[in-house]
Amino acid sequence: MSASVSTVDTMSMTVGFVGAGNFTRALIIGWTSAGILNAEQIWASGPKETSIAGVKNLGVHTTTSNKECVKDKKVIILSVKPHILPSVLEDIRSVVTRDQLVMSVATGVQLVTIEQRLPDCTRIVRIATAGTTCSVRQAASVFSVGKWATSEDVALVKTLMSGVGICEECKESLVSAVSALTAPGHMLLASEAMADGGVLVGLPRRLAQTLAAQTMIGIGKLILEMNKHPGVLKDEIASPGGVTIAMIESLEKAGFRGAIIDSIAEGHKQSLRLAEQASVNNC
Ligand SMILES: NC(=O)c1ccc[n+]([C@@H]2O[C@H](COP(=O)([O-])OP(=O)(O)OC[C@H]3O[C@@H](n4cnc5c(N)ncnc54)[C@H](OP(=O)(O)O)[C@@H]3O)[C@@H](O)[C@H]2O)c1
Repeated sequence: MSASVSTVDTMSMTVGFVGAGNFTRALIIGWTSAGILNAEQIWASGPKETSIAGVKNLGVHTTTSNKECVKDKKVIILSVKPHILPSVLEDIRSVVTRDQLVMSVATGVQLVTIEQRLPDCTRIVRIATAGTTCSVRQAASVFSVGKWATSEDVALVKTLMSGVGICEECKESLVSAVSALTAPGHMLLASEAMADGGVLVGLPRRLAQTLAAQTMIGIGKLILEMNKHPGVLKDEIASPGGVTIAMIESLEKAGFRGAIIDSIAEGHKQSLRLAEQASVNNC
């Protein structure tokens, strides 16, 4: 399940990002550093020169016209905030064709909503991913396909998103749950707390922070590459009377597992609330 070898040729295609903010920048960095796309293949648009300034230094084509960005590109990526999306869809509708694949990353906006606002039979895929991790090619992404998307579209999306991490297809009804699980807030807090613990027992801050982050990467890789249950790995490393089991006792007393589980349940509720808000606001 790690970043897989490309199965679709991406080097001759063109991509247009509508919206050139944080998500777009992270994905461009991820794709170009992975060798999935070159900067010359990529266009990005925003309403003003300042909106596109953040991606200009990545060598991509930029424009303040969404239509120009979208016209004739093989893949269009909708990367604006959900409340902006209706006006963007209205703007680009006349230049979108059945020959293009539309990928939406707008949080909470359903496929059917986008399908209704673009020409009949438009091929659409919805992506959920922790955007910032795309830039370091370690994203955990899922995608759901719209009514008109083809098996070639599925293969292309898998190639593109596997190039910046792992990518699985899932039912659209599960996207909010995925957003909650993969939002990295819990990991950031855990990493910071680990570094604080290191400092408490005498380590310099910088060293503690680096060791904490690398420990997270190492355990994540171990679980994925060995395909082992984390509890099995825990049992294997917790030796009698050792350091690990003493730490586990302390974490269990503090309700560590419950806190993580609850945080994901809370994130899920919030994700559903935002999706509901997007649909009430007609996004
Ligand atoms: N960032 C993440 O990690 C992440 C993760 C998952 C999903 N997402 C989703 O990705 C989408 C983009 O998020 P983001 O974090 O990149 O937001 P962002 O940094 O605010 O970027 C959005 C960009 O859209 C531009 N924009 C505004 N109106 C526009 C228009 N009419 N046409 C074209 N562009 C327009 C904005 O320009 P101005 O600044 O000039 O208004 C801004 O540059 C959102 O739907 C978000 O939910 C993001």
